[in-house]
Amino acid sequence: MSGNTALEVYLTGLRNQHLVETQAIGTLQNEMAYTKDYPELHGRMQMDKDRSTEQAARLEQLLERHGTSKSYFKEAVGGAVATVAGFAHAVSNDDVLKNVLAAIGYKAYEIASYKALIALAEAAGASEDRTVLEHSMKEEQEMGDWLGEHLPGLVRSYLEKQAA
Ligand SMILES: [Fe+2]
Repeated sequence: MSGNTALEVYLTGLRNQHLVETQAIGTLQNEMAYTKDYPELHGRMQMDKDRSTEQAARLEQLLERHGTSKSYFKEAVGGAVATVAGFAHAVSNDDVLKNVLAAIGYKAYEIASYKALIALAEAAGASEDRTVLEHSMKEEQEMGDWLGEHLPGLVRSYLEKQAA
């Protein structure tokens, strides 16, 4: 594969991940309305939303570094309702457990995406992008771990609330 092809695949990957982050912001915003009874989860989602905003900004910086124009992002943000293939996470509903399970799957997808982007950056000769991508990947891992660790407790409080 030529260096140019690797760069094209990498840049497409960065754009896709920018859409993923933009969509995550909207999804979190919607779902947070249903998690006010779960203060710890609610706080964590707020943090994830703030981090997603930063992650999207990081991706914009990387794309700009590789010559993508700013006007692209205005369109991307305007089109944030675009669906991410294969993920039902954007379908917001009031079932907290379903949303948490979907979020765990979504985080696994995001971790894998950043891992792929790191490999693509290397192949495209953009190894200077690695630190930024790793930063975002670690944040995704933290959130994924938190959700996984707290899932049993969330199930218990869900059941308590159903019984109340
Ligand atoms: Fe993210």
